Amino acid sequence: MTKRIVVLISGRGSNLSALLDAGLPVVGVFSDRVAAAGLTLAQHHGIATATLSASEFAHRAAYDEAVAAQIDRWQPDVVVLAGYMRILSDNFVQHYQNRLLNIHPSLLPHYPGLNTHARALADGIKIHGCTVHFVTPQLDSGPVILQGVVPVHADDTPDTLAARVLRAEHRIYPQAIHWFLEGRLHVNADQTVSVTGIDAAQQRLFLMEN
Ligand code: GAR
Repeated sequence: MTKRIVVLISGRGSNLSALLDAGLPVVGVFSDRVAAAGLTLAQHHGIATATLSASEFAHRAAYDEAVAAQIDRWQPDVVVLAGYMRILSDNFVQHYQNRLLNIHPSLLPHYPGLNTHARALADGIKIHGCTVHFVTPQLDSGPVILQGVVPVHADDTPDTLAARVLRAEHRIYPQAIHWFLEGRLHVNADQTVSVTGIDAAQQRLFLMEN
């Protein structure tokens, strides 16, 4: 049976676009912002969309419950955060345990949170990148599935660096989701992630080459 992916966005949706270009079976797109450009993109692809405004809910947990109810109507195998900029309640994360993925614009555990590119430049680091990981209640810290590494150039601005990282995001997110749907991801006791058919040394090589 075809697998079902639900994508959560807040903005332009370039990662969503990369997933669609990769032919992934996205059945629903949810946004917390009505004006998110990614919603229009989804609609052009004939994909169901939904939005809910957090301002209409008394607190985070109530909002997340309503969001989960909407997501569950789409019966997803996996829920994919693609630039979804809200902090998630613990209940929401637990509800989708082991089937909730996020992409973050840094090489975690470095630079969790916001403004990752400006912070990386301010520190003078020479490599930067992005991370696909399973979501756990603690922000930006779940088991890492795949990372994309890019160089930092001497004349980079936060915008030029963000653009380079974004190209890496568009490559690693579809790959990680394919692995998930193929049932090849295994979270080990030490919270590392193994990929069936790819040994650890090969996996590291893969990360650097892609
Ligand atoms: C991406 O760079 C993604 O990594 C980041 O938001 C951007 C969304 O772009 N996500 C986070 O910062 C999550 N904490 P997009 O809407 O074009 O996919």
